[in-house]
Amino acid sequence: MDIAGGTFVITGGASLIGSHVADRLLADGSGKVVLLDNFALGTPEAIAHLDGDSRVELVRGDILRTGELFDAFAGADGVFAIAGFLTLPLTQNPPLGLAVNVDGMVNVFEACRFAEVKKVVFSSSIAAIGEPGPEPITEETHSNLAAFQAGTKLYAASKLIGEGLCQLYSSKYGVGGVALRYATVYGERQHYRGVNALYIIQNYDRIMRGESPQITGDGSEVHDYVHVADVARANVLAMAADAAGEIFNIGSGVATNLVRLVEILRDITGSDLEPEYVEAGGAVKSTSGSTIDFRIGKAKRLLGWEPEVGIEDGMRRLIEWRREQG
Ligand SMILES: NC(=O)c1ccc[n+]([C@@H]2O[C@H](COP(=O)([O-])OP(=O)(O)OC[C@H]3O[C@@H](n4cnc5c(N)ncnc54)[C@H](O)[C@@H]3O)[C@@H](O)[C@H]2O)c1
Repeated sequence: MDIAGGTFVITGGASLIGSHVADRLLADGSGKVVLLDNFALGTPEAIAHLDGDSRVELVRGDILRTGELFDAFAGADGVFAIAGFLTLPLTQNPPLGLAVNVDGMVNVFEACRFAEVKKVVFSSSIAAIGEPGPEPITEETHSNLAAFQAGTKLYAASKLIGEGLCQLYSSKYGVGGVALRYATVYGERQHYRGVNALYIIQNYDRIMRGESPQITGDGSEVHDYVHVADVARANVLAMAADAAGEIFNIGSGVATNLVRLVEILRDITGSDLEPEYVEAGGAVKSTSGSTIDFRIGKAKRLLGWEPEVGIEDGMRRLIEWRREQG
């Protein structure tokens, strides 16, 4: 599919990831970008920079109200299905979180079928795999959610349902669905809803207040941090590609532990505050292991996608943005 000149809808357009997908689409010459959001979690500030761009249309809409989707999807070439509740908000409001992640996704696919939208790129998550072990995680790795906390388990299961919808609507109903399993996404316009990106943003806040950054446990917990600009580029490449019914891992392929994360933060901020080691307590968590080997070869091969922003550069960009906010 051609991105240049095309019309695209982003559900959850006011999100961290949605706002960056909009930036990427506009940079690649899209003719029209519709940002559909009910602002349940996202904020107008995330898309304020797009004010005045005549190619952007903001629709206050709810993916739980299918009628609102029919109107917004009319004439669209593709839909980026990004609206959703992450583990934290889903744990705080299970009825709404599950409704949005499950019923909302069914509505998105049904509205696409009705409006004859050719393609959906769905925001899935590495959580769909379960607690990672030492073995490589590919798209063929079997899900094992048994070790997850309850909220993470529900979130992961809701993402597996979204992936199933991508495959079913691709094979039966003429709407090509592609699921992107993101690792931990972070970057400019960072919010406080991502359990793993919280380690970055909360420790930055602590350093700015003159408080020691905190490291949970012994600091060996690792995550694969992928910059939001790379995630946005993966979305647009997946929309442009012929792939349908496919799942792609989207991460950096690099494991970063909490000790290293705090070290990078201290470097960027020039802080000499010594880190403080604390217990995790009752915090909502996704994974907490000390190994992760998230393989991104399939996206490289079939989408021509590779991450371009390393963790040091990405965190510098996030912090520069944060400083500009004052
Ligand atoms: N941030 C990450 O690390 C990460 C990792 C893996 C997967 N994901 C997935 O990517 C997507 C976006 O993540 P994000 O970090 O940008 O999240 P976010 O919380 O910033 O965005 C979610 C957006 O969905 C909107 N929304 C919620 N309910 C809605 C409804 N009923 N109708 C319309 N809009 C609604 C919210 O207002 C918000 O703008 C989510 O589906 C998330 O599960 C994110």
